[in-house]
Amino acid sequence: MVLFVQGWIIYPDRCNPVSIRIYQWASGFASLHVPKYTVQIINEAWHTKGVYDVQIGCPAFASTTLVDPMVLRRTDLANCLLKNGSIIRPGEVITFDYSNLLPYPFIVLNIKCLY
Ligand SMILES: *[C@@H]1O[C@H](CO)[C@@H](O)[C@H](O)[C@H]1NC(C)=O
Repeated sequence: MVLFVQGWIIYPDRCNPVSIRIYQWASGFASLHVPKYTVQIINEAWHTKGVYDVQIGCPAFASTTLVDPMVLRRTDLANCLLKNGSIIRPGEVITFDYSNLLPYPFIVLNIKCLY
């Protein structure tokens, strides 16, 4: 994508974590009435062939239900890896549920891009 502003051409950052959008909403209850949340992560890096090594900040993240480690896997105290670091194509949506008393504020820390 190229934006034209008053005759100047502005190229958006070529490989920016903001291209990975995270949406989540309450989606019911797990056992013991713990709230459940559904997360959708969408790759909107349209100018790439894909992103990989997507690192999500998750220092205090916990879930009372299992999150598939192939979808979101903790790599150290502060970081989680999306889809085990493999390529996520533009427009691809990754979904998982977790259960916690409060929604967890996930943020994308770092990505790598494929051109
Ligand atoms: C996940 O990624 C690691 C590191 O790249 C790799 O060693 C492992 O085989 C992968 N796991 C699966 C199930 O693909």
